[in-house]
Amino acid sequence: MNWFAVAALALCVIAPGTDCADDTIPWCYNLPTCNDTTWPVIAAPFCNGTKQSPINIVTANAAGDASLGPFTFVNYDNPSIMNNIENTGKTVKVNLNPGAKVSGGNLSEPYDSLQFHLHWGNGSTVPGSEHTVDGKQYPMELHIVNSKESLNRNTTLAVEDPEGLTALGFFIEALTDNSTGQPASWRQLIAYLENITIQNQTVSITPGITLNDLLFGVDRTQYWRYLGSLTTPACNEAVVWTVFKGTIKMSTDLIDRFSTVLRIGNSTSEHMVNVFRNVQPALPVSTQVSSTSGTSKTCYSLGLMALSVVLGRS
Ligand SMILES: *[C@@H]1O[C@H](CO)[C@@H](O)[C@H](O)[C@H]1NC(C)=O
Ligand SMILES: *[C@@H]1O[C@H](CO)[C@@H](O)[C@H](O)[C@H]1NC(C)=O
Ligand SMILES: *[C@@H]1O[C@H](CO)[C@@H](O)[C@H](O)[C@H]1NC(C)=O
Ligand SMILES: *[C@@H]1O[C@H](CO)[C@@H](O)[C@H](O)[C@H]1NC(C)=O
Ligand SMILES: *[C@@H]1O[C@H](CO)[C@@H](O)[C@H](O)[C@H]1NC(C)=O
Ligand SMILES: *[C@@H]1O[C@H](CO)[C@@H](O)[C@H](O)[C@H]1NC(C)=O
Ligand SMILES: *[C@@H]1O[C@H](CO)[C@@H](O)[C@H](O)[C@H]1NC(C)=O
Ligand SMILES: *[C@@H]1O[C@H](CO)[C@@H](O)[C@H](O)[C@H]1NC(C)=O
Ligand SMILES: *[C@@H]1O[C@H](CO)[C@@H](O)[C@H](O)[C@H]1NC(C)=O
Ligand SMILES: [Zn+2]
Repeated sequence: MNWFAVAALALCVIAPGTDCADDTIPWCYNLPTCNDTTWPVIAAPFCNGTKQSPINIVTANAAGDASLGPFTFVNYDNPSIMNNIENTGKTVKVNLNPGAKVSGGNLSEPYDSLQFHLHWGNGSTVPGSEHTVDGKQYPMELHIVNSKESLNRNTTLAVEDPEGLTALGFFIEALTDNSTGQPASWRQLIAYLENITIQNQTVSITPGITLNDLLFGVDRTQYWRYLGSLTTPACNEAVVWTVFKGTIKMSTDLIDRFSTVLRIGNSTSEHMVNVFRNVQPALPVSTQVSSTSGTSKTCYSLGLMALSVVLGRS
């Protein structure tokens, strides 16, 4: 092994060891009387809890955990798994047909994938992800919501169990190549927004798009894990969070559709923009131990450079 290869290794070594939304609470994102700063009061006690989501993930503080293995996804390749798409007035939500599941990833049992929805800001230039990474907020964030298989999709029971739900979070990042309508899977899904511009509108989804299609390009073995809450009232602390490090890349025209097509009420209501909760106090975060592509790295180069010198001379 030559000195440079060893030195490169030594410079970046992983630190060892180291919507289920509540309709009864009149919360909102857009008004001072009901936006997220008021939730600890209007949606007490859970929104005023101690394990609240989202959080800012400080990559250097993520502890290595050898139990955070790969996931198994069932029916994520099924082109008929999406049932319908709905404007809830707070987000756009896709309800899934029964059969999609996620297991592995140190989850205590398989979880049923129930629905996914998104969070965004105001177009591709005003970010609106919920989690942030070292202070960086992404344009959008996709949440796939899952509940313990043993709870038979009963979300009332799920929110009473500290690990009743598991959420898969994916950041959406803007493509910088001036392309439009990319990727095709998202273009197909986003076309439905024209049919659900008003709150409570729902339209069936024609088979053809899979969950894997939407998650294209993301390495699903690399993620952060922490125990937190729903990010909308009642903010129940019942969620095992998985936030993936890789991002979904989307052209800016598609990102812009969310903030320009959807309205929070009827056709005269304002556009649905800045639909995210701000970050909450930090929580312990863990990640894979032996990743070489992760960002949780420590450079204890002195010791390893000394070792490399020894190796280089031997
Ligand atoms: C939310 O409301 C508070 C007052 O309750 C106000 O100070 C704050 O600016 C509002 N935030 C947003 C993003 O509108
Ligand atoms: C929220 O909890 C803190 C303690 O964690 C408490 O001091 C505060 O009064 C609570 N606020 C509300 C609105 O309940
Ligand atoms: C995963 O495994 C660790 C042990 O390393 C355990 O403490 C943790 O609670 C487990 N559960 C989840 C959901 O990550
Ligand atoms: C969102 O962006 C549009 C276009 O740039 C702007 O007209 C509108 O005022 C913005 N809305 C908010 C709430 O910032
Ligand atoms: C969920 O479980 C609770 C408690 O067992 C029960 O009261 C409720 O009817 C169930 N909900 C559904 C939709 O099955
Ligand atoms: C994107 O378009 C702008 C303006 O039309 C141009 O200056 C830039 O070079 C383009 N970028 C790429 C990667 O094609
Ligand atoms: C969605 O809207 C478009 C035109 O806005 C219409 O052609 C199409 O039939 C609608 N689709 C459904 C499923 O309602
Ligand atoms: C839209 O909703 C507002 C109240 O949110 C109401 O005053 C208005 O009449 C409604 N307009 C239509 C066209 O339904
Ligand atoms: C959507 O449904 C909710 C709950 O029934 C209702 O309060 C709201 O006014 C409806 N929105 C529109 C635009 O009709
Ligand atoms: Zn969400």
